[in-house]
Amino acid sequence: MTSTEQAPAVDMDKLMEFVFRVVGEIGATLNTALVVMGDRLGLYRALAGAGPTSAAQLAERTGTAERYVREWLNAQAAGGFVTYDPDSGRYTLPPEQAMALTDENCPAYLPGFFQIALGSVTDSPRITEVAQTGAGFGWHEHVHDVHEGCERFFRPGYNAHLIAEWLPALDGVVTKLETGAQVADVGCGHGASTILMAQAYPNSTFTGSDYHSGSIETARSQADKAGVGDRVRFEAAPASGYEGTGYDLVTMFDCLHDMGDPVGAARHVLSTLKPDGAWMIVEPMAGDRVEDNLNPVGRAYYSFSTLLCTPASLSQDVGLALGAQAGEARIADVVKAGGFTRFRRVAETPFNIVYEARP
Ligand SMILES: C[S@@+](CC[C@H](N)C(=O)[O-])C[C@H]1O[C@@H](n2cnc3c(N)ncnc32)[C@H](O)[C@@H]1O
Repeated sequence: MTSTEQAPAVDMDKLMEFVFRVVGEIGATLNTALVVMGDRLGLYRALAGAGPTSAAQLAERTGTAERYVREWLNAQAAGGFVTYDPDSGRYTLPPEQAMALTDENCPAYLPGFFQIALGSVTDSPRITEVAQTGAGFGWHEHVHDVHEGCERFFRPGYNAHLIAEWLPALDGVVTKLETGAQVADVGCGHGASTILMAQAYPNSTFTGSDYHSGSIETARSQADKAGVGDRVRFEAAPASGYEGTGYDLVTMFDCLHDMGDPVGAARHVLSTLKPDGAWMIVEPMAGDRVEDNLNPVGRAYYSFSTLLCTPASLSQDVGLALGAQAGEARIADVVKAGGFTRFRRVAETPFNIVYEARP
């Protein structure tokens, strides 16, 4: 601005409106830690279906200290997570909140969303450092809350959509899975998607892979617990080098954009697929233009992208850094640059887009 130009006038009402909006944002930010606390201490589970409960009763039921529980409950009441009855001094968890905060089988199960957000914020000082140089920060470098929160965040959506909608949307794939197909689930993390598919299709065999060996160890033990160890194998390998060929189906769940070299990964997928095989790519919901994503889902995903996805990609060779809001056109470019000739969107939810690519 030159000395002759005047600074735009500040509207004091708008300034105060912004200040009070920020009070809500700070409350929400801190509530992320309180929700993880409530989840870990069993506070929501003890409130679910229990009816009006005092702080002393909740503390006794959960083996926690009443003074902390009372403060936590008041924060929950101020945020609308529980209701408060001033006459009795008791708190109630409404049935909708109870479902979303305690029922792991509900598609809207939310504790993992909070856990991955808390882990991301915990690691944010490291991201602030690398943002000054452009260096990366690998998925494997994050705190455990990022890894476990990621699995707990995505699993309810996979439970709800993967077998019922996403796989049937692919051309002819379900018939092959029912008969007996070879499947590679690449970037599988803790293996939630791999195990779910293995449970649904006992005649098929599944190889889950991820470059993060810690995640692969967890995936192996989860598969054993789920009783699908006979048809699932896990290996620690990058997407550009996982083992095997002749796959009928390769899947990638919410990980292509995290990779440093997604085009190289696409080339490897092509080299491991049968000529009539399919590659299913699940990516975060996103439009092609920034302005398409300026909404609450886009805000959450751009934020995760700043703290997790972009640094993860920048930490690897090539460092393409697609970001979590790449959009269909950009993903199509990557897939076609990897040698695939056919690409289409086959399904979507408010949080994900599912694509099918063919050789
Ligand atoms: C957002 S997590 C998704 C994990 C899992 N697919 C799920 O849906 O729960 C992204 C995953 O991509 C993995 N990843 C990142 N870059 C990779 C690469 N180049 N090769 C293989 N896996 C990679 C990470 O280790 C992480 O497990």
